[in-house]
Amino acid sequence: MNTIALVGAQWGDEGKGKVIDILASSADYVVRATGGSNAGHTVVSGDKTYKLHLIPSGILYPKTVNIIGNGVVLDPKVVLEEMDSLSKMGVKFDNLMMDLRAHIVLPYHKEIDELAELSKGKDAIGTTKRGIGPCYADKCDRIGIRLIDLLDSEVFAQKLKSNLELKNKLITAVYGGKPLDYKSIYEEYCGYAKRLKQYATDTGAVLYDAIKAGKRVVFEGAQGTLLDLDSGTYPFVTSSHPITGGFCAGAGVGPTAIKECLGIAKSYTTRVGAGPFPTELNDEVGNHLLNVGHEFGTTTGRARRCGWLDAVILRLAVRINGLTALAINKLDTLTGLKKLKIATSYKLDNKNIQYFPADISILAKCTPVYEEYEGWTEDISACRKFEDLPKAAQNYIKAIEKLTDTPVTMIGVGADRNQNIYR
Ligand code: IMP
Repeated sequence: MNTIALVGAQWGDEGKGKVIDILASSADYVVRATGGSNAGHTVVSGDKTYKLHLIPSGILYPKTVNIIGNGVVLDPKVVLEEMDSLSKMGVKFDNLMMDLRAHIVLPYHKEIDELAELSKGKDAIGTTKRGIGPCYADKCDRIGIRLIDLLDSEVFAQKLKSNLELKNKLITAVYGGKPLDYKSIYEEYCGYAKRLKQYATDTGAVLYDAIKAGKRVVFEGAQGTLLDLDSGTYPFVTSSHPITGGFCAGAGVGPTAIKECLGIAKSYTTRVGAGPFPTELNDEVGNHLLNVGHEFGTTTGRARRCGWLDAVILRLAVRINGLTALAINKLDTLTGLKKLKIATSYKLDNKNIQYFPADISILAKCTPVYEEYEGWTEDISACRKFEDLPKAAQNYIKAIEKLTDTPVTMIGVGADRNQNIYR
């Protein structure tokens, strides 16, 4: 079997796009299985920067088949706009497939996402307002509209009508918003259906055959482990399962279909949106990470919260995802910092906590227990072998391996797809 899952080991934004792009160059299939247009992957190649939200990162390779699996919530407007802008950069879509079972994001999902956040006031989750939560909620409520429904104009008309009646009551009576118009949504989405039809298929069946035939399949994670609906920092999480278990459900394959699980982490930690973040730094070092690391969201442009690397989080990611290796990105961002710290455990009421707490009110009270490491000042962006790195940088990577009991097989030292060290 020749399959690998790439999963975010922190709160998302770990630089998965770059690693996926590297693996995609030799992949036969690249699969997105969870999340939706809340994801944002940046791929830098030469002088071109590609921003991807729903389209799998293998799209830049003409021979790679790109699959949007059943677990993705598909926003037709966003995916088509994305295709139009990629197409202007010379990208082709002959090898793109979208699963018939994928649920469709509709305007009322986005409206409700926005209004629900507003109504929560200071308790807002800080969602991307892409309608992700409301769309998954409809899926669980078994009233969702899937791609297969959208493609049949009669089925779509009937489902849209009954859903919109319900959603307009929610929008107006509960949130005090304005009702949405059936006709304009119907017409707009029928237009999308015409364009999407050629890509729609049963992608789980396609993947099953591909894996059996020994094809190289890369499962492309979105978001990250701590945003997982079950294991993340609930309720400050996304509404899907951006972990390797979620990839199976969301791609329509069994757990034995994934051979390797590579966790992607940054050499420090970032978080977007609200919720506790034990190693957060609101000081000069935090500013260094924000500015040198260009920590602004691909999807929303929001500044990310920054802090030291947290081994408690990485150990959780190793356990939940069954990680076989780690890729550490953006090691170059740490260059110039005199001392570096990694949280090895937390302290609460004089007790040492080794595991990530289930309750965020407990997490909020935890203070990190740090180990300190020497920094380096040398420019490491041209290093291509582990031995080329300054001793202090080597020691930092070795410390991560020791603290997580997992090998670091890839180290990112710059944004370009060639700026990596492989071990
Ligand atoms: P939602 O997925 O838009 O519902 O947002 C829920 C939470 O997940 C918010 O804190 C978002 O900032 C966060 N989130 C969702 N997608 C991403 C991502 O791709 N990277 C980082 N954070 C994300």
